[in-house]
Amino acid sequence: MRPPNPLLLLLLLLSAAPGGSAYGFRNCIQSPSDPGLFRCVQRFLESAAGAVDDLPPAATALNLSHNILRRLPPAAFARLPLLRTLDLSHNRLADVAPGAFAGLGALAALDLSHNRLVGIAEGAFAGLANLSSLRLDRNPLASVATGALLPLANLLRLSLRAGRLPALGPVASAVRNLPRLRLLDLCGNNLSALGPGPPLPPSLLALRLCNNSLAELTGGTPGLLPPALRALDLSYNNISDAAPFARLCLRNLSRLRLAGNPLEVLRLLEVSDVRPRSLDFSGLRLEPDKVGEVCRRLAGPRLRLLRLRRNGIGTLPAGALAACPPIGTLDLSGNRLRRLGCIGGLLGPAQQRELAGLVAEHNLLRRLPSCQDAPTLRRLHNVSLRFNRILVVGPRAFADAPRLRLLRLDVNGLARLDREALRGLRELRELRLDNNLLTDLYPGSFADLGRLRTLNLRNNRVAVLFPGAFAGLARLQTLDLGGNNLRHLAAAALQGLGGLRRLYLDRNRLQEVSAEAFRPVQASLGVLDLRANALRYISQRPRQRPPFRHLRRLYDLKLQAQQPYGLRIIPHRFFQGLTSLRSLFLAQNWLLAVPADAFDDLAQLQYLTLADSSGGMGDLPAGVFKNLSRLRSLDLENAGLRSLGPEVFGNLSRLERLRLAKNELRTLDRSLDGRLPALRYLDLRKCPLSCACGNAWLPGWLDRSAVQVVYLYNYSCGGGGGGGPPAYLHSFDTRVCFLDVGLYLFAGTAPAVLLLLALPLLYHRAYWRLRYHFYLLRAWANGRWRREERRYAYDSFVSYNSADEGWVLGELVPELERGSLRLCLHHRDFSPGRAIIDNIVDSIYNSRKTICVVSRSYLRSEWCSLEIQLASYRLFDELRDVLVLVFLEAIPDAELSAYHRMRRVLLKRTYLRWPPEPQARRLFWAKLKRALRSGYAEGEEEEEEEEEEEEEEEGCGEDDPLP
Ligand SMILES: *[C@@H]1O[C@H](CO)[C@@H](O)[C@H](O)[C@H]1NC(C)=O
Ligand SMILES: *[C@@H]1O[C@H](CO)[C@@H](O)[C@H](O)[C@H]1NC(C)=O
Ligand SMILES: *[C@@H]1O[C@H](CO)[C@@H](O)[C@H](O)[C@H]1NC(C)=O
Ligand SMILES: *[C@@H]1O[C@H](CO)[C@@H](O)[C@H](O)[C@H]1NC(C)=O
Repeated sequence: MRPPNPLLLLLLLLSAAPGGSAYGFRNCIQSPSDPGLFRCVQRFLESAAGAVDDLPPAATALNLSHNILRRLPPAAFARLPLLRTLDLSHNRLADVAPGAFAGLGALAALDLSHNRLVGIAEGAFAGLANLSSLRLDRNPLASVATGALLPLANLLRLSLRAGRLPALGPVASAVRNLPRLRLLDLCGNNLSALGPGPPLPPSLLALRLCNNSLAELTGGTPGLLPPALRALDLSYNNISDAAPFARLCLRNLSRLRLAGNPLEVLRLLEVSDVRPRSLDFSGLRLEPDKVGEVCRRLAGPRLRLLRLRRNGIGTLPAGALAACPPIGTLDLSGNRLRRLGCIGGLLGPAQQRELAGLVAEHNLLRRLPSCQDAPTLRRLHNVSLRFNRILVVGPRAFADAPRLRLLRLDVNGLARLDREALRGLRELRELRLDNNLLTDLYPGSFADLGRLRTLNLRNNRVAVLFPGAFAGLARLQTLDLGGNNLRHLAAAALQGLGGLRRLYLDRNRLQEVSAEAFRPVQASLGVLDLRANALRYISQRPRQRPPFRHLRRLYDLKLQAQQPYGLRIIPHRFFQGLTSLRSLFLAQNWLLAVPADAFDDLAQLQYLTLADSSGGMGDLPAGVFKNLSRLRSLDLENAGLRSLGPEVFGNLSRLERLRLAKNELRTLDRSLDGRLPALRYLDLRKCPLSCACGNAWLPGWLDRSAVQVVYLYNYSCGGGGGGGPPAYLHSFDTRVCFLDVGLYLFAGTAPAVLLLLALPLLYHRAYWRLRYHFYLLRAWANGRWRREERRYAYDSFVSYNSADEGWVLGELVPELERGSLRLCLHHRDFSPGRAIIDNIVDSIYNSRKTICVVSRSYLRSEWCSLEIQLASYRLFDELRDVLVLVFLEAIPDAELSAYHRMRRVLLKRTYLRWPPEPQARRLFWAKLKRALRSGYAEGEEEEEEEEEEEEEEEGCGEDDPLP
């Protein structure tokens, strides 16, 4: 079966993904690395439809595991015709309706394990013509309908492990017509007999019947096992009688497992046609005295593998295996061996030449003796002595195996490694010493291991690395020191490791790291794991220099989860020098502060995680990512962020995946739009995003960009309270936001427009009035300011029009100045260089009274009109009568009414008229002088006089304008 053309698939997917619009699925996440894969795990889904309904039809893999599906209705996945992998494991499926998988003609792998299926009904798998792998493990499966598997014409592997199938027969009936079936796994059922039933399909290569209740093989019809069968697993049953094996055809088996049966192995070899070499001798209660007998039965050419596991062997005397044929790998695991001696002692000379591997795991070995003088095993490459109790490795313990490449001594009790223990292992490539009790590594221990590539010292108790401990390991590439007690890394600790590429120092107690310590490995180190140490910084300016600054080849740096409270602070330029770094892990560090220059040197960084570092950071500083132009994945999940300003996403032009889940973000900044052009995957789960106007740009952006927003349609408006139907972020009503803006714009511009419209009109109609009111305002302001002044420079300011200058200078001034009144005249007393208006205001306010000489020309003059208004203003302001009106000519009411400013003053004022007849002029001057002098002392008499005057004037001015 050829997989569909990947290019075609990609095209399909691209065309199916809603182009140009952000998308998300209610319950599934499209894998950012494989666009065909959809994971819908742990969503508490009760029906498949809840996941499938909104997936694109181009999906090729669907993982629905760890949900609570109960039943599959017909055609449950028909929407996804290109599906090749479907995982429905870990659900509660009890019922698969006929035709449930209709339409999945391309499906290759189906996993239904860990469900509650009791039976498989006819038609359940209809349509799965291309299925090659079907898993039904761990269902309480008691029956499979005879025709249920018939449609699976291409099935290769069928696993029915750990069910409750009571007999092989019905299963054989069900699989009989699967022409390509190769593997049938029925381990862990309740099979009690092999028959009766039809023969298994001839294509079958492996049949597993382990962990059942098979007691005897009776009922096994001669043709039950297909002749092509290669592997038969009958282990952990209850077979005690060897005789029925005689009726089975076992000649062609290459592997027969019978462990865990109370079976007499020698008897089996006598009665059946099984070839001894295909038998797995594990778990057959093979006492040591029978080992020799077995060896004789195995006689012949070299045996690739001899397994003698779990046979309870306590001792093997010298030469115990000498009768065996030459053996490739000898597996003695799971016995009770306390001593093994030098392995050559068990073997004959031919075997000593051939032995390539020795496995003696899970025994009781305590010490490995020196084997300097033992027979040499030229071909021995692999030795595994894991899971023993080895405390002591004697000097030159492996001197008999000079070609050793892999030595596993892990999970023992080694407290001390003899300086000479590994002498002579010049070919060793990998040494596992992890999970022991080593406290010290003596200089020179590894001196001969010039070809070692991997040294694993994980989970020991190494507290100090003495200088020279690793001397001689010039080709070491991987050094694993995780899980030790290192507190300090001395400058010379890594001396001699010039080729080291990967250094694991995680789960130690390092409180600081210095650049000096890494200097010996600076040219080669690519991976440095410092996770879960005790690194902590309390200042952004630590005393030391940047610790990684020599590691210019480092591409992977892990600093997660420093104990007990995390890194807290990342010092300035902490990552300086890491110019090749591609992945940086800073998760789980309770960061308080990240300086803005923290990542400045990491121009090659592609992956950065600060997840689970919510130590109160709140914000990331502006520009913190400014140099990370190659970053592709940024994980800020649960980083305690309250905001993400536009300045944070400096230059992330290649960022594809952004994880922001579990932060305190209420609004997302607009800058996301535009600043992250390559974004494909955005995770905002569990952020209290609100449907406020701050997020109003979101729905529009989601419409435009082609980003997958994880569970996009599930973000309800956080903090949105109130009744009514829940609103969702992807579609909340943003009109109100834009309306408001419109309103503000309208409110802001309308007055301006109106003003512009009105200005020409006003200019035309009321220029002077406006200007004049403006002056009024200034006068008023000035007046307030001068209020305190009570001393006047003049007795009177004379306001007149130049047309009346003759009268003023000829009559008025001589008469009044003779009477020692000080007059202010504009042609004479105005200060040159000042604005006229200021002069006017000053003059009015510096004079006790103002005489207005009214004539027709006066009325026409704007200045005069202004002067009279200013003076009358002073009247209202100071409640003092400052205005004295002198009419030079009689002006009829009609004429006066055109100057209504004037008229308004006249309404409130009395006035004197210049009498044409000379006799009356004496009285005129007297009245005028009195009017000017009034106000020196405000007595009752004067007020009465004034009233008299008023009456008089009103009397004589009947034709005066009084509307
Ligand atoms: C089944 O697999 C074969 C080979 O991979 C392929 O040619 C055929 O189209 C597949 N059938 C369906 C229905 O997809
Ligand atoms: C489906 O997801 C589960 C849980 O993450 C995982 O263990 C399993 O391997 C996945 N199945 C496949 C087919 O990848
Ligand atoms: C297994 O089969 C025996 C009888 O063959 C029966 O008594 C027992 O209950 C079965 N066990 C299970 C778990 O079905
Ligand atoms: C079979 O039983 C043995 C012993 O109880 C156990 O170790 C092994 O894991 C079981 N295998 C299966 C496939 O259940």
